[in-house]
Amino acid sequence: MGNVILIGFMGCGKTTVGLRLSYRLRRAVIDTDKEIEKEEKRAISDIFATDGEGYFRDKETACLQKLIESTSNQIISVGGGLPLREENRRLLHELGQVFYLRAKGETIYERLKDDTTRPLLQGGDPLTKIETLLQERDSYYRAAADVVIAVDGKSFSEILDEIEKNIT
Ligand code: S3P
Repeated sequence: MGNVILIGFMGCGKTTVGLRLSYRLRRAVIDTDKEIEKEEKRAISDIFATDGEGYFRDKETACLQKLIESTSNQIISVGGGLPLREENRRLLHELGQVFYLRAKGETIYERLKDDTTRPLLQGGDPLTKIETLLQERDSYYRAAADVVIAVDGKSFSEILDEIEKNIT
């Protein structure tokens, strides 16, 4: 398989790091959110609003199963909630080496405070929502990860250097 997989909370930089890493390593990049939106022909916020979170989570598992059949030596960035399912964590390990981009609540808040595309952060106080979800999720991200990269205060090139150094 040999893929490099990026996991972490919404707004931790998975998509941008994935794109830049793809240029640097000359490997294709795939994003599970984009794959699901393409297949469903609608935005994630529409999927959540119409069919609910459970439907979306099943699509995430199906997407990983498809990647297992088809993908090697690529960069894969995954939605922030995907590693919470045990089956998904198992599939991630099968797919390749998993990097957790770990960011603090304030960093994420600064990036996402005006975002309207993440259904889980809409309504109410976003910082409290971010802090609560982060606390709930950190141990799942750690359980899924082979390498943890602390991203707060680092430039993208520093983050890429750290990932590249750790690729086995
Ligand atoms: C989610 C994260 C989003 C997207 C969906 C749910 C989550 O992806 O999959 O809105 O549960 O954290 P990003 O991490 O790319 O924002």
